[in-house]
Amino acid sequence: MCGIVGYVGSKQAQDVVMEGLRRLEYRGYDSAGIAVVSDGALHIRKKAGKLANLIELLDQDPLPQSTTGMGHTRWATHGPPNDRNAHPHLSYVGKVAVVHNGIIENFAALRSSLESRGIDLASDTDTEVVAHLVQDAFDEIAPDHETRLREAVRRVCARLEGAFTLVISHADAPGTIIGARRNSPLVAGLGDGEYFLGSDVSAFIAHTREAIELGQDQICEINAERGITVIGFDGGEIELTGYTIDWDDAAAEKGGYDWFMLKEIAEQPAVVADTLRGRLTDTGDIVLDEVRLSDEDFRDITKIFIIACGTSSYAGMIAKYAIEHWTRIPCEVELASEFRYRDPVLDRTTLVIAISQSGETMDTLMALRHAKDQHARILAICNTIGSTIPRESDAVLYTRAGVEIAVASTKAFLAQIVACYLIALHLASVRGVKWGDEVAVIVDQLKAMPAAVEQVLDTMEPVRKLAREELADCAQVLFLGRHVGFPVALEGALKLKELAYMHAEGFAAGELKHGPIALVGDGTPVVVVCPSPLGRDTLHGKIVSNIQEVRARGAKTIVIAEAGDEEVTPYADHVIRVPHCPTLLAPLVTAVPLQVMACEIAAAKGLDVDQPRNLAKSVTVE
Ligand code: M6R
Repeated sequence: MCGIVGYVGSKQAQDVVMEGLRRLEYRGYDSAGIAVVSDGALHIRKKAGKLANLIELLDQDPLPQSTTGMGHTRWATHGPPNDRNAHPHLSYVGKVAVVHNGIIENFAALRSSLESRGIDLASDTDTEVVAHLVQDAFDEIAPDHETRLREAVRRVCARLEGAFTLVISHADAPGTIIGARRNSPLVAGLGDGEYFLGSDVSAFIAHTREAIELGQDQICEINAERGITVIGFDGGEIELTGYTIDWDDAAAEKGGYDWFMLKEIAEQPAVVADTLRGRLTDTGDIVLDEVRLSDEDFRDITKIFIIACGTSSYAGMIAKYAIEHWTRIPCEVELASEFRYRDPVLDRTTLVIAISQSGETMDTLMALRHAKDQHARILAICNTIGSTIPRESDAVLYTRAGVEIAVASTKAFLAQIVACYLIALHLASVRGVKWGDEVAVIVDQLKAMPAAVEQVLDTMEPVRKLAREELADCAQVLFLGRHVGFPVALEGALKLKELAYMHAEGFAAGELKHGPIALVGDGTPVVVVCPSPLGRDTLHGKIVSNIQEVRARGAKTIVIAEAGDEEVTPYADHVIRVPHCPTLLAPLVTAVPLQVMACEIAAAKGLDVDQPRNLAKSVTVE
């Protein structure tokens, strides 16, 4: 949610900042802007709409040469996405420029106090107040103060409430950019005589792999001569903790595909294999990435809550089936945005599993903190190393999906499901519910899944054809599933909503007759995620009946069924075949055709597959 870049060094700031914004655009694309410091003045260009509009503006009206710059791509919160509300925002004398991600909750009070002094605000944003306050604070500090801008920002941060990442420059401080963060992401990059700030590492991955973690309530100064300094909001200096980014620059490029989403779908067999690799020992012990929990802690668990949002919550729903079946520990899945408001009952024997691709989703982070306050143990499943959710958890299992750029999650989803299976197996093993040899059988089944996903990907042409020719113009598509197929149906519907802007709903197939079946009319496409006939036969039999029920009411049935399942054939207008795999692992193959279908429909409708309207990749506001 909003992408931020800051740069000081020896290169042209415009080039570095625009390259960073290009890579961060997936975080928000309502507007974009850039500021550079040159000859004692700030120079700003900003434009509503996608980054391409800013690029066009810069072609018509180039910025002066500068080695100090910052930029922003916006996902609008306060004020509509127009030129006026685009970041950076300037202070009243035009000396301070601010870009911001998050929400400043006390902005109305701050705004009124500025207005009562006769300061006219030029935008509708909460951000602009920060520029004016920093201007004031800067002017109050002696001009010979070596870190005058940093100190001014520190004083202002103490007055702000809410969540924010700020990046700030001053016309009188060339060679310096200040970043500050509270509950919103910011990382620093350490190059050779050049320094970077970014919402995530993709902002500077083209220049350096060396990154510095920034914690909550910290301020980071990047200065062309002094390098990187980090202080707390209390002014105390903080020791730098660095890490090396382990994905390469090419991961952030499309690699010949039309869309990042297509590339990410294609990467799924490797992602499943990578997430499994080296994680389970022969005796069923799991190798977690960061563990601040003992086996004793795992043995003491009496209840599990999974908290997550969107696609990650569907991974959590799938996990619930595996966790309860394999470990016999009660497990609930909760939307993170609802969790803390219903006063859940938690204690030291509760394990809360927070699932997040970005590791920055504010709803999930706040739910996690609520659980921590109640002394629950927290285990994060996350794709982004060093992000806030894993840092605030007691243990972490990183999904190894690599950077996911398309706003619609695909490969991270499959990686999350695999990570959940690993945790479930570990719990089962530590608690003695499953023997080592039983765990080993499931691990072998898991090891076969990358090939199964590959097989699905190799047979997707009929799905693409169906999507283009029969589904793209439909008013709605319904998705049905039972057991683990239910969350897959929900995910299929979400993919279609977010990518193709179509009405799509996922239902538990048995629930349909309690109301939603009224939606089914002549020709309504109904996609059914069918369980294996080799699993529980009652499950398979029931869904065959559900297919017949919708067909009898005129539905066009599109059935995702296992190879060899002929029982569904008479009732299916289209059958999409997936290879046989154990019931609990089936989502790894059944989700893939639904991803392909949504992607193809969006492309056929001429929509932007990677950056659907109104969305952002990382949702850092509640
Ligand atoms: O980064 P997270 O996994 O915490 O994000 C959660 C959701 O915002 C995310 O899964 C969202 O639903 C995606 N757009 C789905 O494609």
